[in-house]
Order: sequence, then C-alpha cells, then structure tokens
Amino acid sequence: MIRVGLIGAGFMGVMHASCYGALRENDVFITAVADVREEKASKIASAHGATVYGTGIELIESADVDIIDICLPTYLHSGHAVAAMEKGRAVFIEKPVCLGIGESELMLRTQKKTGTSVMTGHCIRFWPEYMWLKETLASGIYGRIVSAIFSRVSPKPLWSWENWLHRVERSGSAALDLHIHDSDFIRYLLGEPEGVSSTAVRDDTGAIQHIMTSYEYPDMLVSAEGAWDYPPAFPFRMEYRVKFEKATVVYSCANNPALVVYGADGSVLTPDAGSVLMENKAAGGNVSGLGGYYNELKYFTDRVAFGAAVEEATLEEGIKSLELVLREIESAGGMLP
Ligand SMILES: NC(=O)c1ccc[n+]([C@@H]2O[C@H](COP(=O)([O-])OP(=O)(O)OC[C@H]3O[C@@H](n4cnc5c(N)ncnc54)[C@H](O)[C@@H]3O)[C@@H](O)[C@H]2O)c1
Repeated sequence: MIRVGLIGAGFMGVMHASCYGALRENDVFITAVADVREEKASKIASAHGATVYGTGIELIESADVDIIDICLPTYLHSGHAVAAMEKGRAVFIEKPVCLGIGESELMLRTQKKTGTSVMTGHCIRFWPEYMWLKETLASGIYGRIVSAIFSRVSPKPLWSWENWLHRVERSGSAALDLHIHDSDFIRYLLGEPEGVSSTAVRDDTGAIQHIMTSYEYPDMLVSAEGAWDYPPAFPFRMEYRVKFEKATVVYSCANNPALVVYGADGSVLTPDAGSVLMENKAAGGNVSGLGGYYNELKYFTDRVAFGAAVEEATLEEGIKSLELVLREIESAGGMLP
C-alpha cells in the first residue's frame, strides 16, 4: 500500500485527489491532507478517509506517509519539498518546480543528499495527444519536423488562494505558470534550443499576461505562445500544429476530432491518441477526464511502489524547463519591466 500526504487542497489538489481516487485499485490511498483552509482539506479527507492537518509543514512533520504531493502556490514549493525530502519521503512537486535558481539548486542538493525520488508535474509529457506526437516523431513515419507551433490560451484564472497567481513574486506570471507547459514539452520533444527570442504583453502591474517565443533550432521553425488574459467566456484551449516532411498534424482540445493528420499524399486521418496510455494503466473507472494528471501520478506511484527510479519529468528536467522560461522572460524584458 502506498500512502499519500496531499498538501494544498485547492484547484490542483482536488484534481490530484480525483486521480488518487482512481488509483485506489492500485493500492494507492490519500491518508493525510493539509490546507490552511480547513474546509478544503476536510472535503478531500472525508472522501478518502484521511487525517486533516492545518499546514503543509505539520503534515510533513507528523504524517506517516510514503509520498508527499505538493499542490501549493509556487512560492511555497521549495521550502516544503526540501522539508519532505529531509524526512525521506518521495516527493511530487507541481510545476513550475519553483520560482528561481537559488531555490532550485537547494532542492537538487537536497535530493542528491537524501537520495529521495522526486517528480515534477509536467503533465503535458503525459497528455495522450502530446505523447502521440512524441511517439510519432520517434517512429520516423512522417520524417523530420520542419516547423512546430504550440499554443495555450485561457481566460484570467480567478480561483487562486489570496490571488497568488496574480502576484508576480508568488507565481512568476503567465509565463512561468502557464506557458512553461509548452516550453517544457518543446525541450522534451526537440531538445534544448540554441536560443530564444520572446515578446510579451503585460498588465498594469507589469506582470506578463501573454508571451510569444521563437526557439532557435538549426533546421526547424519552432514557436509557442501562452496567455491568460482572454475574455471570461473564452474557452481554454491548448493546441499544436506540427509540419513534418510527409504530413502536418493539428491538435486542439477545442476541436472534435481533436487530432487530425493531413498527409502529403492528400490523405486525412484522425488517430485515436487516447490509445497511447501508460503501461499497466488501471482498468475500469472513467479516467479519461483526468488526462495526463492521471497518467503522471500513475507513473510516479508505480515507481515508488516498485522502488524504481523516476526517469520522466525528473527534478533536473523541471529545473531545466524553469531555466528556459526564465531565459524567455529575460528576452521579453524581465519579470517586471
Ligand atoms: N499541472 C497543471 O496543469 C496545473 C494546473 C493548475 C495549477 N498548477 C500548479 O499547482 C500548484 C497549485 O495551484 P492551484 O491552482 O491549486 O492553487 P490554489 O490557490 O487553488 O490552491 C493552493 C492551496 O494551497 C493552500 N495553502 C496555502 N498555503 C498553505 C500551507 N502553508 N499549507 C497548506 N496549504 C496551504 C491554499 O489554501 C489553497 O487551497 C501551483 O504550483 C500551480 O502552478 C498546475
């Protein structure tokens, strides 16, 4: 049995709790939940039969668990992650791993010292249509990539505790909070870019609301945009358009079918990316609505259960993606102008 201590019962904590609910059949259980808003922690705890703690640090100090899952505002990640590693727990940290290089170096040093398993929440690496893209490139079926455009746009997120998402020193802005999903996936798919060139739209406080980046690769055009300043009724959408030598593939979570392949030979295919799921994925239970969140937590809890090393979305990888977005922010004129 794997016992999970969940810290942060807000937007992402609730999502992770749903995933752990589906993972019960794999002998994974939330046994402890912490939130400074007692009612939020209690709601998850009563559904899972877990003990409630008033703060993340109290949970880390007192709960006898195998995994600590950190779904806290980003500026609180590193302190809790270091404390959990020092306690010898396996640690899952939501993305972005933290806000800056000093914190990331401390986390990495602590992981090396304690030898604990750590994974970061770069869930797009586990999202079926993005897994499909990675596998399609690796298969060589459509040749090399000529150009790739990624996009992630949403209305202003309004749910965050004490409005932390819109305090740049707590979230790092839309660039670090939202756009990092695509920066991370681009690194994962194509390797480290040689350079970046970014421009951004900012709000009255100077915080980045919309960022567009060109990534330099020797033999392909690659760009991505991330924005959270669209009108309230605008539906969230994540998308890509990737031109291979022998086909162009288009994905939009807003389209049905979501994924279409336009072959150079005139063919049109609509692959079922949902079939690209994690090995040993739990049978039964409707997990399709949980997307990559389920897949990443299934992967991590399996690794912990079998005592196997985490090889996907590692702490090092999360830090490299943080560093890439920090370079993008610098190119766009800095965190604050
Ligand atoms: N992977 C994704 O797609 C995705 C999506 C959304 C958010 N996130 C990330 O998840 C993390 C959490 O974001 P969110 O949207 O859930 O934020 P949120 O504001 O909805 O939730 C944060 C929770 O932490 C609680 N909290 C604050 N301080 C605490 C403490 N010391 N101890 C215990 N609880 C405390 C708050 O009461 C709140 O319930 C962030 O790093 C964010 O970037 C990831």
